[in-house]
Amino acid sequence: MSNQTAQVHLDGQIYELPIVESTTGERAIDIRSLLRLSGHTTYDSGFMNTASCESGITYLDGNNGILRYRGYDIEDLAENCVFIEVAYLLINGELPDHEELEKFKYDMIRYALIHEDMIHFFDHFPPNASPMSILSTMTGSLHDFYPEMDLEEDPYGGMTTTTARLLSKIRTIAAFSYKKSMGLPLVYPRADLNYCSNFLNMMFDRPNMPYKIEPLMVSALNKLLILHADHEQNCSTSTVRLVGSAGVRLYPSISAGISALWGPLHGGANVAVIRMLELIYADDCDFDKYIGMAKDPDNPYRLTGFGHRVYKTYDPRAKIIKAATHDILSQLNISDPLLDIAQELEYRVQKDDYFISRNLYPNVDFYSGIIYRAMGIPTNMFTVMFALGRLPGWIAHWQEMHMDKESSRIGRPRQVYNGIVKRPFVPVGQRG
Ligand code: SDX
Repeated sequence: MSNQTAQVHLDGQIYELPIVESTTGERAIDIRSLLRLSGHTTYDSGFMNTASCESGITYLDGNNGILRYRGYDIEDLAENCVFIEVAYLLINGELPDHEELEKFKYDMIRYALIHEDMIHFFDHFPPNASPMSILSTMTGSLHDFYPEMDLEEDPYGGMTTTTARLLSKIRTIAAFSYKKSMGLPLVYPRADLNYCSNFLNMMFDRPNMPYKIEPLMVSALNKLLILHADHEQNCSTSTVRLVGSAGVRLYPSISAGISALWGPLHGGANVAVIRMLELIYADDCDFDKYIGMAKDPDNPYRLTGFGHRVYKTYDPRAKIIKAATHDILSQLNISDPLLDIAQELEYRVQKDDYFISRNLYPNVDFYSGIIYRAMGIPTNMFTVMFALGRLPGWIAHWQEMHMDKESSRIGRPRQVYNGIVKRPFVPVGQRG
């Protein structure tokens, strides 16, 4: 709390509202007493400027392009860690020491299988089922196969078993859904492979064509998952917190988050970007046409992969992913025309006043799909990859919400009613 207050002048009254100050210096007006004091609520559709909670997990500075998990710069974590090390940091608040990391790696192997009865679920999805609807369905049903332990029941204390199971099994579900969609035999997780190697092997190993695990791909996947691991109160994380605040257990809360992430304005943008680049490529690279459509106030079309609710400068994750994209494609000697299209589009947008004046820069989704393509991951699985990365962040926020008395209240926003005030009832025979 700051010792300053904000004054609200209403109907001749002055209401003093406390100012809340973050550890990084940002300040917020605490409006929780405003309704009781003045009978007024506040209005902020889309929560453009509303803090829903206090959180110590991730810090974003949208004006300066800063992203930190538990105080560590994303650039340091992406460069020096493996994904499950960062997952441990987000969930437990500290980077693991050697023993803790080895134990977490062991848990990823120990909990990698899914109940064999769950595998039959895949047989009953239609062939063209979206991997995101499969992931959301299967994740929610984990609750019935693996009853979640309460904080005090867990033999390791805290949420260790419950979260380790989820982190490891969701990776298996994602790979199995791909193999099923291809009509190929499932490849089971191996005890001798780390988190990312196991995923790539489950995805691409085949009895007739053994998959060679490339360190370059493993490193790229670790980096991508780390960059997607958390992003404070974004749409899907807020969904997990809101659903969890009703007393819903972790697995179904995460299933709700997966559904929120699916949207093309959110995590689904990484699929939409590739579709957009393919369209521009097929349309003789008519950049002006697509940029013109995006700028037309009467056209809902937008250049997906650009813009962000918080970042008003280059998304720090997009910077890292763009550099990694160049690195991977040159090391693999791949020339992807979509990368050329993406770079030309970025170049033209950055010179255009419409985008400059609105602070529209590439976001995390703009280049990520090009690396996933280089790995051989199909486009319809790109948002699944985003979900695999974001899972530790969702878990950390669900846990933080439950452990904080204030933010574990059930989330229930108010509204400004704009409907008919009141009217007399008319029996059906007298209507119309
Ligand atoms: C993610 O919140 C998070 O942290 C999300 C995320 C995470 O890690 O969880 O970072 C992941 O979701 C990234 C965003 C992925 N989505 C896209 O790439 C879809 C394309 N982007 C836009 O739809 C938009 O920029 C949003 C949804 C990302 C942000 O929308 P806002 O904050 O509601 O901003 P807005 O729609 O009010 O736009 C402000 C202005 C408008 O123009 P005017 O009304 O002022 O004339 O900018 C324009 C918009 O029309 N605008 C765009 C644009 N994005 C905004 N114009 C053209 N192309 C775009 N992409």
